[in-house]
Amino acid sequence: MAAAASAAAQLAVVSVANRSLASNFEPGSALTIDGSQAPVIELEAVRKVYGTGTIEVEALRGITLSIEQGEYVAVVGPSGSGKSTLMHILGCLDVPTSGNYLLAGEDVSVMDEIELAEVRNRRIGFVFQQFNLLPSLSALRNVELPLSYAAMSREARRPRAQAALERVGLGDRVDHRPGELSGGQQQRVAIARALASEPALLLADEPTGNLDSTATEDVLALFAELHQQGRTVVLITHEEEVAERAARVIRIRDGQIASDEFSTHGGNR
Ligand SMILES: Nc1ncnc2c1ncn2[C@@H]1O[C@H](COP(=O)(O)OP(=O)(O)OP(=O)(O)O)[C@@H](O)[C@H]1O
Ligand SMILES: [Mg+2]
Repeated sequence: MAAAASAAAQLAVVSVANRSLASNFEPGSALTIDGSQAPVIELEAVRKVYGTGTIEVEALRGITLSIEQGEYVAVVGPSGSGKSTLMHILGCLDVPTSGNYLLAGEDVSVMDEIELAEVRNRRIGFVFQQFNLLPSLSALRNVELPLSYAAMSREARRPRAQAALERVGLGDRVDHRPGELSGGQQQRVAIARALASEPALLLADEPTGNLDSTATEDVLALFAELHQQGRTVVLITHEEEVAERAARVIRIRDGQIASDEFSTHGGNR
């Protein structure tokens, strides 16, 4: 899981826009640089081949899809179908072997490392199945840590982290370390960390995979709320009940899109 590890490392170098978390998120504003209404995500014939020589794995075999600002999309498929590979490409943590990826209308393949880091750190929030929290730090410090790598003073980042934790219902657990929190609470800390930089796009890979049904419900309610506020949410899961909560469900099988449908039940747009 080298890519997930690098994703975790990326979380440590988040820099943030100088806006407060609580209320003034502007839908789409943070992702589209020129204010255009380009889709957030446009993939065209994206292929991803791992390895070289005789043991090649074609994890993605020609993915073409478009996701508009403010959509709530679930990507569902069996183990090994290419979901995490897709998320790594969407999150600019990995690059396609071939095909095109436009993020908010911009061709990711021509961005340099600094631009890519900027995109990852400021515009995309990542949530993983393994919460990737540092065990020795309090919830508050875990949320604060990525902000501390930006040119943000301790005075500025502390209330930002506090607000993010309150946002996920953990205002009374800020001093707890991960080991003193339930799995669901740990995942909510991870979501608070992803939100602290005010990303317009939230990418979540099996965020409920380690949670019981109550904690799953909490996390899904939170995603629904974030979506209602105008964020674009892409949620990867292999659980049908989780996928049904999204407005649109893209099914992946063997690295290809098997179906792409707007939900007739449960989903909210
Ligand atoms: N770094 C890698 N090197 C080589 N092959 C890889 C690598 N990462 C993934 N694969 C292969 O690519 C395919 C897709 O993997 P991926 O992790 O995207 O699946 P997934 O849909 O996320 O599965 P799961 O539900 O089990 O998480 C699998 O066959 C996997 O073995
Ligand atoms: Mg996966």
